[in-house]
Amino acid sequence: MDHPTSGPKAAEAYERARKVIAGGVSSDARRSAGVPLFVDHAAGAELWDVDGRRFLDYVLGQGPGLLGHASPLVADAVAAQARRGVAYAAQHELEAEVAERLCAMVPCAELVRFNSVGSEAVHGAIRLARGHTGRTVIIKFEGNYHGWLDPVLYSVHPDLAAAGDARHPAAVGGSAGLPPNGAADLIVLPYNDLDALAEIFADRGDTIAAVIMEPILCNTGCITPDPEFAAGARSLTTEHGALLIFDEIITGFRVAPGGGQEVIGVTPDLATFGKAMAGGMQVSALVGRRDVMDTISNGTVAHAGTFNSHPVAMAAANAVLTELHDQADRLYPALRQTGRSLMDGLRQIAGRHGVPLLVDGPGPVFQTYITDRSEVRDYRDFAGCDRSAMARLHELLYAGGVNIVPRGLWFLSTAHTEAQVAETLDVAEAAFARL
Ligand SMILES: Cc1ncc(COP(=O)(O)O)c(C=O)c1O
Repeated sequence: MDHPTSGPKAAEAYERARKVIAGGVSSDARRSAGVPLFVDHAAGAELWDVDGRRFLDYVLGQGPGLLGHASPLVADAVAAQARRGVAYAAQHELEAEVAERLCAMVPCAELVRFNSVGSEAVHGAIRLARGHTGRTVIIKFEGNYHGWLDPVLYSVHPDLAAAGDARHPAAVGGSAGLPPNGAADLIVLPYNDLDALAEIFADRGDTIAAVIMEPILCNTGCITPDPEFAAGARSLTTEHGALLIFDEIITGFRVAPGGGQEVIGVTPDLATFGKAMAGGMQVSALVGRRDVMDTISNGTVAHAGTFNSHPVAMAAANAVLTELHDQADRLYPALRQTGRSLMDGLRQIAGRHGVPLLVDGPGPVFQTYITDRSEVRDYRDFAGCDRSAMARLHELLYAGGVNIVPRGLWFLSTAHTEAQVAETLDVAEAAFARL
């Protein structure tokens, strides 16, 4: 069935794309049951598709648009740098400037290396953890996404029958073609379950190189972990000589200037950043403790990339981080307030229409779940929500001109206005009435 709102130009563009692009899309995340969104242009909190249809956008490029689309700040920085040269694959002064900003803003950042995308930064973190500790085992949590590369593409949204026991889940590969023993050194555990983590450390603590987690889980609902869980992950890794890695690709600069680690008050050994850090330009960073990062400095662990510290991306990152740092006292409270207005408004509307809606998250990013539960703590809880009703809600919102991440995640930007929130709530009112 075609998407209810796809117009003729989008349908034509999709037909054309399907002839030359595998599946008609360049990322599996853009697959759609019908014709995917074909964007013509975007500005601030709005985007327009090729058929001229306007959307209030809460996807924001899957997170990067923290300052809104086509931010003049980013556009000017990009244009100015593009005229000075696009790719040097050599040192330039902007990269130290951006690294200094990262070290000033992010609690765990003492040294930095840049890459282009989040998956690469995570790959670097995993290799560095193994190279630094001389151990092999990585612990990840069910429902956490750390990019599409082989070592970590397991148990993001696994089939429950394949994943088995909630306390001791199997590592379920997210693709054909992963190495046959790819999960041999990976342990998957339930998120937010300190006992399960402590049990593994008691059992195999001296083999564990690192625990990797989203400090606020944004790929399976939007879950702020229990303080005891986050603090426990910190103390167990320290006690057993393993590293704690926070994957802040979504949370970084979005939930606070210092990322999720600032919000939950736990400082990891390593962290990865991407998405919001350069206003939509492709850049990621691996940051962390000096002595750990020095395993890269001294050449023991290899890290490279033609486009690393790409000058145009660095110019964008410098502009964005300077703004977020200098204007933090104004921007973050406003962003959280916009998030609160929207979250409260959605709760009220759902209540009026008798829809069991749970809305949760820090505000700059949040999740709507359709469920009778009072909280969602992990992937199993998430899987128990009414995901087909959520998909239907997404469809109705989309048909009304509100674009959210289909699984129910909402990203906000500093460009969203109260008037746009009110307009969104009007669309939601109509959507809930029909749900
Ligand atoms: C937490 C997290 N880590 C890593 C990644 C991978 O980043 P990228 O898509 O830029 O490779 C993502 C992407 O959504 C993510 O959400």
